[in-house]
Parts: sequence; structure tokens; C-alpha cells
Amino acid sequence: MKLFQKQSNKFLEKSKKIIPGGIFGHYKYAVREEGPKFFSKAKDAYFWDVDGNKYIDLICGWGPMILGYNNTVIDKAARDQYDSGNTVSVASPVMLDLAETLVSTIDIADWALFGKNGADGTQLAVMLSREETNKSKILKINNGYHGSNGWMQNKNNPGITDSDTDDVISIAWNNLDEFDQAISDHAHEIACFISSPYDHPTSKDNSLPDIGYWQHIQKKCNEHNIVLIVDDVRTGFRINLNGSHKAFNFSPDLVCLGKAMANGYPISALVGKNSLKEAAKKVYFSGTQFFNAAPMAAANATIKELIKIDAIKIMNSNGERLRKDLISIAKDYGFKMNVTGVPSMPYFRIESTDPKIHTNWVDACLSKGIYLTSYHNHFLSTVHGEEEINVFTNKAKEAFEEISS
Ligand SMILES: Cc1ncc(COP(=O)(O)O)c(C=O)c1O
Repeated sequence: MKLFQKQSNKFLEKSKKIIPGGIFGHYKYAVREEGPKFFSKAKDAYFWDVDGNKYIDLICGWGPMILGYNNTVIDKAARDQYDSGNTVSVASPVMLDLAETLVSTIDIADWALFGKNGADGTQLAVMLSREETNKSKILKINNGYHGSNGWMQNKNNPGITDSDTDDVISIAWNNLDEFDQAISDHAHEIACFISSPYDHPTSKDNSLPDIGYWQHIQKKCNEHNIVLIVDDVRTGFRINLNGSHKAFNFSPDLVCLGKAMANGYPISALVGKNSLKEAAKKVYFSGTQFFNAAPMAAANATIKELIKIDAIKIMNSNGERLRKDLISIAKDYGFKMNVTGVPSMPYFRIESTDPKIHTNWVDACLSKGIYLTSYHNHFLSTVHGEEEINVFTNKAKEAFEEISS
């Protein structure tokens, strides 16, 4: 049974008249006929669409809502700061508090700079690498996403010129032969290697690093004066609060953070080692809203709260249960469900030669009030607890039943 989407569809039609595409950017890929397009309110692990339907949200605002929507502790910290000032002509000391929190939390961090979006941090990281090494090329993973910067886009994307991507070399994930080949061909030109700590592309099972992968990369980068950048924008605070690289036992030069760092308030950060501090002083990096104090207060409160409640333990335990239960329920209905990635960011895929089976299951879940996507990893928060997982697995069961009949 489809949920009523009358208001959502009406808003979408109206939006198309005045907003190019109606829903733009990556949000547009998740729009499904059966699903909600606009929300009316959100709380904890749930949101309600403009037609009044309630969803358990397995997307968490595409990652930021790590403590759940409208978390009272974080919202109070932000509101208190808004009351005393947000965008002011000089910086707030809360910026120092946040820098201190990051330096004492992320193990490689000797300093921090702040932007708004993840792409601000990845762009800055690339610029610092170029300044530091006096080289220009970026080595990255095929389909590794680091934001909407020109160097990140495909050569033939609308609005992209060859010069945007001429300096980019892409290699396969977990493939040290390709990495070594790129180094032997281009080490004298490569300024940085940028990658997420594990591979979480769209429309593909996610993949953890092979044993020894990161250690080899770190060694080679050190030998060839290549800056090692971990893009922790999506994974940050979801695997290890000291930086996701800690879980894989290596030590990057720069770490890009965003999404979950302020539970939905707009802020991102680049943190780095002292060796790149001089470059970070020199490179021009600015934005009118970069100094907003309220998101900084929210970030400070979020990181402290994550530490206080041992967020990783909560998400790992609930994510692991969700994985096991989903695989077992799928099996009862004759399906093989692959759940890849880390427990707080599961990627679901029903194994089949017909990809429609998976999208049909996602649509069936949507129509039962479970907000999923068919092509992207999902996100858990610390308030996706036993109750939410029970509801999810029961609805998932009904969805399997529906697609089997
Ligand atoms: C790994 C990664 N890096 C960078 C970005 C870009 O972040 P933003 O969309 O905030 O610019 C994203 C966004 O999805 C991401 O997942």
C-alpha cells in the first residue's frame, strides 16, 4: 500500500517552477515516487512528511544527525550561543574551545580550521598539499566522493572543463598495484593522496581496507613527499572518536571532518599535523559564514556528548544487531541480503541478477514508514535503539513478504 503523498507532490510541482530541478544536488537522487519529498518536523530517529506520515529515518539527514533530530543538549548549546551572537564582525572564543576539543580528540590534530561544508575542507586539504609539496596532482580512488569541487567531478559533467580534472589521477580501491604504479609514474607530480578511510561508493557494496593497505600507503606517501589526506567527512565520529584512521591503525597528515560533527548545525573542519601548519597559515581560505559561533558551540557540545555517552559502542552494538537480523529475515524469504560497511553506516543490497528486486524492497519499506535509499549507505544515530530496530525489522519482513508475492 502506498502512503499518501499529495502535499509532497504538490510542493514538488511548485518547487520545479522556481527551483531548477525542484530538488537539487544529491537530495534529488533519493526522490522516489512512493516516498516523501518534504518534511514537516523531525525528532530523534523520526521525521514526518508534509502529508503527516511518520518515518524511522535510516538516512539521518545524510549523516549529520548522529545524536538524533532536535537533541536537547546540542540545541541548547547552539541556542545559548545564538542568544549571545552568531555572525559577528570578530571571532568568538567558542572557536578556540572547538579547536581545543578537536586537537584533544582527533589524535593527529595539532591545529584546526573551520568551514561550512565537507567540500570546503577537502578543497583546503588539496590546496595545503600543493603549497607544501610544490606539486599539483591529486591521487584519489575511482568514484571516491569528496564534495562538488571541480576536481572531483567527471570530465564530461555539465559545467566542467578539462582543466578542472587534468590534475586528477584515479585508481581502484584496495589495489596496491595500481597505487604503486601511479607512484612510480607520477610521484614527482603528486601532491596528495585523498581517500575515505574505507570505500563507500554509491550503488556498490562498501569495502573495508585490506590488512596492510593503509600502512603501505602511509609509508609510500612519506617516502615520496605526498600528503596523506583522510576524508572523514562521512565516516567521522562514526567509527572511532579519535578519527576513523585510528580504527585502521595509520596516521594521516590531514583529516577532513563535517557531517556528524555538529549534529546538523552547518560546520566542517580540517585538522592537521604541525608539519602542515605553515602551509595552512599561507593558503587563502575564507567564507563570510565560516565564523558563525552557534554551529561551533553545537560542534563542541556534540563531540563532548559523543564521548560522554560512548556513542561508538551504542551505534556498533545496534548496527550489528540490525545487520544480523536483516540478513536472517531476508534468508527466511529466500533472499541473500548483503550488509556492508561499518555498523553505523550500513549499505544494503539484495543479491540478485535483477536489481529491481532491491529497489522494490526499498519502495516497500518506504511505504511502511522506513526511510531508506536503494543506492547509498545508510546512517544510524545513537537514538536508533532497540525499539527502532524492532520496528524496522518487522516492516522489513512485511516488505520481503510483499516482494515475494
Ligand atoms: C566522504 C565525503 N566527503 C566530502 C563530502 C562533501 O561534503 P559536503 O556535501 O558537506 O560538501 C561528502 C558528502 O557527502 C562525503 O560523503
